[in-house]
Amino acid sequence: MSGFAARGLTKRFHRGVETVTALAGVDLTVAAGELVALVGPSGSGKSTLLALLCGWETPDEGSLTLGGPLTGRRPADLGWPELALVPQALGLVADLSIADNVLLPARLRGQDETARAGLLLADFGLSHLAGRYPQQSSLGEQQRAAVARALLLRPAVLLADEPTAHQDRGHADQLLDAVEAATREGSAVLLATHDETAWARADRVLTLRDGRLTGGLPS
Ligand SMILES: Nc1ncnc2c1ncn2[C@@H]1O[C@H](COP(=O)(O)OP(=O)(O)OP(=O)(O)O)[C@@H](O)[C@H]1O
Ligand SMILES: [Mg+2]
Repeated sequence: MSGFAARGLTKRFHRGVETVTALAGVDLTVAAGELVALVGPSGSGKSTLLALLCGWETPDEGSLTLGGPLTGRRPADLGWPELALVPQALGLVADLSIADNVLLPARLRGQDETARAGLLLADFGLSHLAGRYPQQSSLGEQQRAAVARALLLRPAVLLADEPTAHQDRGHADQLLDAVEAATREGSAVLLATHDETAWARADRVLTLRDGRLTGGLPS
């Protein structure tokens, strides 16, 4: 299998005497070249699932398997070409310009991807903002920069957490076009999203409810 698979992923958070079961035994498989949408109400566990898949959090139970060239690797050890994330909170570096944020995955590896970064900035309507800092840009612009950063090195696995949440329809469609293009190039993509247009573009839609995957679309 290329792509990734999770079995029985369970995550509990402890707040004083309270235990929140954010994920309760999630099984999923996303193949290389597949675009899977992850939907579900606020608080259903979407971001927690992405945090486990990218290695930010450790599951209390369950396992994650990476396939193809990533077999045997742990998500926390992977670099941007292998696993790229668009966090819900974006995570741009405040003292780097928009262009330098987009280029960061390449710079960390000593690669020059200036030309591809320029194309992504142009595709996402960010060329004129290249030299600005994130806090001098709108939230939607920052989000498009976070998507461009994730796509820069054509990742084998792309995890995106509501990447169109701050966009108008036109910009959302540009982002979804780029995510679809990455899928066609072979990325295994999991896209947490409330955007019904994204559901329609996905190969499959998975619905989370109270930390469990259920059938059907949210009502
Ligand atoms: N660090 C944490 N400590 C305690 N509880 C947490 C923590 N992170 C998430 N939770 C809880 O886990 C549950 C799932 O949260 P999560 O952020 O995964 O939801 P979500 O589906 O991404 O929601 P949204 O659509 O609002 O982004 C929620 O009940 C949330 O309050
Ligand atoms: Mg979330």
